[in-house]
Amino acid sequence: MDTLQLNANSLESYWMPFTVNRDFKKKPQIVTGASGMYYSMSDGHRLLDGIAGLWCVNAGHGHPKIVEAIQKQAAQLDFASSFGFGHPLAFEYASRLTSIAPEGLDNVFFTNSGSEATDTALKLALAYHHARGQGHRQRIIGRQRGYHGVGFGGLSAAGMGPHKKQFGMLLPGAAHMPHTHDPARNAFSLGQPAHGAEIADELEQMLQTYDPSTVAAVIVEPVAGSTGVLVPPVGYLERLREICTHHGILLIFDEVVTGFGRLGHPFAADRFGVTPDLIAIAKGMTNGAVPMGGVITSGKIHEALMGNAAQGAVEFSHGYTYSGHPLASAAALATLDVYLGEGVLEHAASIEPLWQERAHGAKELPNVVDIRNLGLLAGIELGEDVVTGKAMAKKVYDHCFERGVLIRPVANTIVLSPPLVISETEIDMLFSTIGAALRSL
Ligand SMILES: Cc1ncc(COP(=O)(O)O)c(C=O)c1O
Repeated sequence: MDTLQLNANSLESYWMPFTVNRDFKKKPQIVTGASGMYYSMSDGHRLLDGIAGLWCVNAGHGHPKIVEAIQKQAAQLDFASSFGFGHPLAFEYASRLTSIAPEGLDNVFFTNSGSEATDTALKLALAYHHARGQGHRQRIIGRQRGYHGVGFGGLSAAGMGPHKKQFGMLLPGAAHMPHTHDPARNAFSLGQPAHGAEIADELEQMLQTYDPSTVAAVIVEPVAGSTGVLVPPVGYLERLREICTHHGILLIFDEVVTGFGRLGHPFAADRFGVTPDLIAIAKGMTNGAVPMGGVITSGKIHEALMGNAAQGAVEFSHGYTYSGHPLASAAALATLDVYLGEGVLEHAASIEPLWQERAHGAKELPNVVDIRNLGLLAGIELGEDVVTGKAMAKKVYDHCFERGVLIRPVANTIVLSPPLVISETEIDMLFSTIGAALRSL
């Protein structure tokens, strides 16, 4: 970009998130534009976006209808508080969203990010039990290798040690089920692995340890994304649902990644035929164009909180200045129009077999120890040893970057989650570039 003269001083002030700042600032990669499937960089380099920004730009970058909706809304109503005040688009979007949500999930609470969505879902679970005279249900059960953002609640429920080590004890009473990764039985599964439904029974064991009446909620990503794409074994989510229902525990799906078409359906809940009590959403909600998140809740949770509040009392003492922000609501409505009106989800579903075939085409390449996929998600795991695998994934990233393809190395796994509008040619380009990188290692 010609107007921006970047030098060591101009880079110093911005403390970048989840970034090795010292390395980045020595060799900055600055993006200045995006359109459709491509980013353009300050030096003119173009990149095929193999990760939909960060799992969010499902309809491709700069979709004109979304851009127009945001521009129009900014001129009409820039901001209005949602605390005891309202504006039409937030209501309209809530109705439209719940009309495509799984049956029984009838209300939505807006946040501004996935982290706020998971924290809000956990607070809703606690408040629900409290409203029903079961305030003793306080324990939250997450899963090893889970990622639920960086708020104190989501981080406590998450299962990634390195994200926690700087932050002390976090929430008391968070416990973790085992993850579902079982390469000995399931390596190179096409889609859902066949083995491992019984891993869900560990939840039952944990409940016997803690006593089910102390547990408020179980939270899982239906497909664990950030840890490297772990697809649930056939029958696993169904079993979790059964156990939670049996013990009166709320089941939360964190669909921040899997929502809005990533698996070829509006929600992973639809794909798996398993309905949770709450769904945390963000990312694809506005196609990444304006920050927005939310929690879609079952009617029973809404009714418990509405029905049990004292006259004149706020039913749920929670909310953000920007909950249901007008620009976010406008972007979300336009995004939904694009997803539903332009066949984005249908395209994702119809191209999934090719995606799977090309992803698994890397099976015989050097250092590939596992390939996992579902919907338009894939994880290519490198090397048995995490440290050397991680170094290789970074090299693959560098190789692809130089050749105009953006992927995401997460520890020893190459993670892929392109915009859902990706074409056959672009899928070929993505995997052939990764293949060439793997051969060059
Ligand atoms: C499953 C999941 N939950 C929550 C989050 C947090 O979202 P945000 O970064 O918008 O706070 C993410 C982000 O990647 C995620 O993948």
